[in-house]
Amino acid sequence: MKGVFITFEGGEGAGKSTVARRLAAALQTSGREVVLTREPGGTPGAEAVRGLLLDPVTQLTPLADTLLHFAARADHVARVINPALARGAVVICDRFYDSTMAYQGYGLGVDRAAIAALIGLMGLKPDLTFVLEVSQFTAKQRLASRGNVADRYELMGPEVMARIAAGFHAIAVAEPERCVLVDANAEADAVFAEVAALVAKRLGL
Ligand code: TMP
Repeated sequence: MKGVFITFEGGEGAGKSTVARRLAAALQTSGREVVLTREPGGTPGAEAVRGLLLDPVTQLTPLADTLLHFAARADHVARVINPALARGAVVICDRFYDSTMAYQGYGLGVDRAAIAALIGLMGLKPDLTFVLEVSQFTAKQRLASRGNVADRYELMGPEVMARIAAGFHAIAVAEPERCVLVDANAEADAVFAEVAALVAKRLGL
């Protein structure tokens, strides 16, 4: 059986993690092996890098930030994602390389051609990517209701956030065969239903 790679992308407070978890649970009941993972993270080394990247105390230039995301990703792809796909599993990843293009490329101004080259180096492309879009208003409300301490990226200003959102949109529009834009302002149940229907239609799962 061929492995299937599904990724969830979007700005802060879009509800990606919730819908990724629900999709994993739903596909598990169908008997497929499902690996639910996240970026930055997914291996001990990459989770350590995540701690550094999200800590508001960490100071990194945008390029250093980018390269650390790819360092974590290289370990994650080699140790977790590729082996799972080789076993025929469904891999669901909460963020992947589109986040680097959106946050570090569109948001922080790192050379997008250089990021594209690093993406090529990973040698792996998702079969299906959901790009969840929410208004800044909804995002703010959701983040506030979580009550967590803001991480390093959540502290970026509204202009950067707007560029990131526009970047995700541009990525999805440029690759319609891989990416689906989802209106995530809707209720969580409706968002999940839309995602599950698309997974069935596009991937037959
Ligand atoms: P999350 O667990 O809320 O998705 O947090 C991860 C944070 O890391 C989020 O603010 C987006 C950021 N991020 C990047 O800036 N670039 C990346 O490549 C990835 C994977 C995440």
